[in-house]
Amino acid sequence: MHIGFNDGIDSDSDRILASGDEDENTPCSNFRINEDRLLNKFCCSRFFRIILFIIALMIIYFIYTFLFSHSHAASQSENQPSFNHSKANQIIHSLCDSYKHGAVSGDICSKLCNSPNWTLSDLYEGGSKHVLKLKENDKNIILKMHLPYITNYDHVDPKVSEEEFTDKVTDIINEQTNLNWPKRYKNHLIKTLWPSYKKNPNGNSLSEADRRSLWALLQQDEFINFKILQLSRVVPKVLGTCGHVYQAEYLIPFRMKGYYMNLKAKILVHLMGTLKLFYEFLNDPLQWCDVKFENLGLSADYPKRFVVMDSDMLYTETKLRALLTSQKCVTDDQCMHFDCESRCDNTTGHCTDRLNDNVDVFCKKLINRLFGNYWSKSNRYLAACHEAQNATKRLADLRLVWSWSLSDV
Ligand SMILES: Nc1ncnc2c1ncn2[C@@H]1O[C@H](COP(=O)(O)OP(=O)(O)O)[C@@H](O)[C@H]1O
Ligand SMILES: *[C@@H]1O[C@H](CO)[C@@H](O)[C@H](O)[C@H]1NC(C)=O
Ligand SMILES: *[C@@H]1O[C@H](CO)[C@@H](O)[C@H](O)[C@H]1NC(C)=O
Ligand SMILES: *[C@@H]1O[C@H](CO)[C@@H](O)[C@H](O)[C@H]1NC(C)=O
Ligand SMILES: *[C@@H]1O[C@H](CO)[C@@H](O)[C@H](O)[C@H]1NC(C)=O
Ligand SMILES: [Mg+2]
Repeated sequence: MHIGFNDGIDSDSDRILASGDEDENTPCSNFRINEDRLLNKFCCSRFFRIILFIIALMIIYFIYTFLFSHSHAASQSENQPSFNHSKANQIIHSLCDSYKHGAVSGDICSKLCNSPNWTLSDLYEGGSKHVLKLKENDKNIILKMHLPYITNYDHVDPKVSEEEFTDKVTDIINEQTNLNWPKRYKNHLIKTLWPSYKKNPNGNSLSEADRRSLWALLQQDEFINFKILQLSRVVPKVLGTCGHVYQAEYLIPFRMKGYYMNLKAKILVHLMGTLKLFYEFLNDPLQWCDVKFENLGLSADYPKRFVVMDSDMLYTETKLRALLTSQKCVTDDQCMHFDCESRCDNTTGHCTDRLNDNVDVFCKKLINRLFGNYWSKSNRYLAACHEAQNATKRLADLRLVWSWSLSDV
């Protein structure tokens, strides 16, 4: 069926569809001529004209009611996605309860709990996260957490001194990122994680609620990545925290639709922007092991890159190497870390370093899904995915293209 509406973007594919429809016109119009002759005979009588009129009215009525109920249902499900309201309420209420009892703290607690001016609009309960979406005057507030309640997280013993606590925080960050922050950067690091931190030379700077909240946040890999890998400019900003919950910058989630060629070209540039930034991260390129469109989002601030909306499995190269090579194995499948491939080295009984690279996975899981088998040598990005070549050389070539065409990312 070809419907004659064009909204500009769709015109290419409409033309393709339209050319396919032409063949059908000839038999159709022949049929119409025969039909007309028959109809003319019937229509001579007034009786048949009235019957026809009634049938036409009924058809119009059915079409109208069908379309109306259809669009009505669609708009309802768009405005109010079905989610577990009572659970979403329970999560917020138990958080605000803890806050009001002084058990947790954070810079968005007051806005969230004291003068609530938001409405719940969604709760996502996925494999590894709970994501609450609130709406405040048309503004979206995204609250993320691994487990839903503060009681789900380990506590820190209140008898631990603040020095010990902050030392331990530094250890956790180094363990997670392998960036080896020296202890003398400790205050700077705590301030990055907990913006209201001010070192008090005479006593404790962090209250028990502060410590409890920060400790729960540090049990969530994505929170650490958002904060510490912020320098890479490929993760969303953390706008604030309350207890174990962190507010992420709102991103427009990517939706896989039937995209058209000029839009695909733009998406390709966005993908390359993200890839380029992975390789530019300090001296320790980022490795991403959970690559899919659903985990990417668009930020209003960045016109030439996707942001890694789901950053659980974003690692520095050294961290991923440590993770893989410390894994004991007997067979190769014990060494696959989602999209990051490794094999079992049976001489050591441990997994090898990563064998594929970000470019491989971007090509396989994103770019090929978008472009299929279409590619041309004149598009260097697509060619990089299709020409069999040495990975080191491919990356060197890509870096050169990036520095020319994506210097502003
Ligand atoms: N920053 C954000 N902006 C908008 N929506 C988000 C954001 N973060 C997560 N979401 C929504 O929540 C969903 C799940 O988030 P994600 O981090 O991918 O969780 P999981 O680790 O369970 O896959 C996403 O698909 C998206 O719809
Ligand atoms: C909603 O969440 C509550 C727990 O808060 C649970 O008991 C209930 O079964 C859930 N309802 C649905 C429809 O999943
Ligand atoms: C709450 O939102 C309304 C608009 O929806 C706004 O007029 C009002 O000032 C807000 N109140 C507070 C306390 O922010
Ligand atoms: C290691 O595994 C390979 C196959 O994966 C096998 O050919 C080889 O013999 C094994 N070596 C040892 C020392 O077990
Ligand atoms: C890839 O090419 C680089 C030089 O461009 C070379 O040093 C390296 O050994 C090659 N690797 C493989 C696996 O061929
Ligand atoms: Mg995800």
